Amino acid sequence: MKVIVCKDYAEVSKEAYKVMKEVMTSKEEVVLGLATGSTPIGLYQEMAKDYKAGNVSYKNTKTFNLDEYVGIDRNHPESYYTFMNTNLFEHIDIDTNNTILPYGDTAKDCADYEASMSACSIDLQVLGIGGNAHIGFNEPGTSFDSLTHIVDLQEATIKDNARFFDNDMSKVPTQAISMGIATIMKSKKVILIASGANKADAVYGMVKGEITEVVPASILQNHADVILVVDEAAASKL
Ligand code: F6R
Repeated sequence: MKVIVCKDYAEVSKEAYKVMKEVMTSKEEVVLGLATGSTPIGLYQEMAKDYKAGNVSYKNTKTFNLDEYVGIDRNHPESYYTFMNTNLFEHIDIDTNNTILPYGDTAKDCADYEASMSACSIDLQVLGIGGNAHIGFNEPGTSFDSLTHIVDLQEATIKDNARFFDNDMSKVPTQAISMGIATIMKSKKVILIASGANKADAVYGMVKGEITEVVPASILQNHADVILVVDEAAASKL
């Protein structure tokens, strides 16, 4: 695992974009795995900025997102579908027919999503990390063999995400559909970005801890091509 420690969030976003640009310019038809949450917003801004400068095009790019809440409408302001459109897709030249997010709550929805991904293979998977070391919405205890599945969100995650729902935990969906850990591990390259002291324990567990399902991100120690880009606060326990 390659670890890049940056001074702050702005630098994390710029370093992450360097990795993204290298992949984007390495071949004609790139498949990206994308994340939501606060952390990738700076990376997405860098992508939009460089696209507007005419340096990169997403015309032939296909994207798969990690996850989506269960039980909220796609057009809800806090759905991940809305998040991706407002934070990235509206600002680049991607064909929205090629921007694919999981949706639904049945085993068939999960199998269909998995099948749509296995038709191609993800060149670069962008990940954030939860304070409890979740990746995607794979909470501690999720099997390393998991494929796309329906997840019950843990209280810690609901609490973390309440900031997007008027700080009201009762408004946060309690379930999500998420790529599984085995799905994530199939990506050719992974970049995990983290910022802030509240991620320091999770980052430590991911990099230096035992590889255990109690710390979902620790499985990334077994992936051949992972780049971790963190700020000093998130790296403080390494
Ligand atoms: C989002 C996702 C989550 C987040 C994680 C960190 O698609 O899969 O694993 O990456 O919860 O979220 P932030 O970046 O908001 O701290």
